[in-house]
Amino acid sequence: MSTRPRSPAAATPAPGKLPLPELAEMKRRGDRIVMITAYDAPAARIADDAGVELILVGDTAAMVMLGHSSTLPVTLDEMIFLTRAVTRAARRPLVVGDLPFGTYEVSDEQAVASAIRMVKEGGADVVKLEGAGRMLSRVRAIAESNIGIMGHVGLTPQSATKLGGFKAQGRTADAAKQLYDDALALQEAGAFAIVLEAVPAPVAARVTEALHVPTIGIGAGSGTDGQVLVWHDMLGMYAGRTPRFVKRYAEIAAEIGDAVSAYASDVRTGAFPEEKHTYGISPEELEWFEASLTTS
Ligand code: KIV
Repeated sequence: MSTRPRSPAAATPAPGKLPLPELAEMKRRGDRIVMITAYDAPAARIADDAGVELILVGDTAAMVMLGHSSTLPVTLDEMIFLTRAVTRAARRPLVVGDLPFGTYEVSDEQAVASAIRMVKEGGADVVKLEGAGRMLSRVRAIAESNIGIMGHVGLTPQSATKLGGFKAQGRTADAAKQLYDDALALQEAGAFAIVLEAVPAPVAARVTEALHVPTIGIGAGSGTDGQVLVWHDMLGMYAGRTPRFVKRYAEIAAEIGDAVSAYASDVRTGAFPEEKHTYGISPEELEWFEASLTTS
């Protein structure tokens, strides 16, 4: 009989992978956690080389990659396809596979089945879902299946219609208290970290203080344990509306636009391709080739 320890795949990180408990240690030490979204292998490699701790394959892919006007239409198959590309390239960062709308709301069984697909087929290290309330039971069920689960409260884009749009949350005493209770309940249900989106900074800081698991803020001020930004937003690659909490670190779309225009102009004027971009053939071979055309 084998003496090899048996452990679930999700509990056996690849060599070089950041161990999940390190995130709680970082919180304890006061070290900030960096998360960024990515949806393909080149972006994942860049994020890994930059030393981020977490890469989120967010359902924002629906908007920034697939051209939808909300996050709702993206399917689990599409998310798995994108996650697979990211996990092929990300060595050290933990890859968080976002469970899209409609893949966990129905039952705990549905949530666990979707999370397992994200891990087995997408190669995600952990998964994320939005909300508390009825979703606490989903979080507990996924955690009990040995899959790391990240929570997400505040502005939860999958419920934007119910929330009245992409609006900041927790801006009244009652709403702030509800958000605080939800975050504690998510921790209690087994979430290893919680995203706080579009929440007043003092509320996010108070929630962060109360939790022993890390908070990752987006539009939640500097008092959270970490920050996340969407790749296309921070790099100036998204043509749609950018929330006020985004800091732009580059204008990549403009730079790509200039490059494509220059290419188009070079093709039209004949400036491209140059000699150095072409392959040669020996004069003898060329002569034989020409001869073969006249004899055939
Ligand atoms: O889907 C996503 O990119 C997200 C972040 C905005 C946190 O959930």
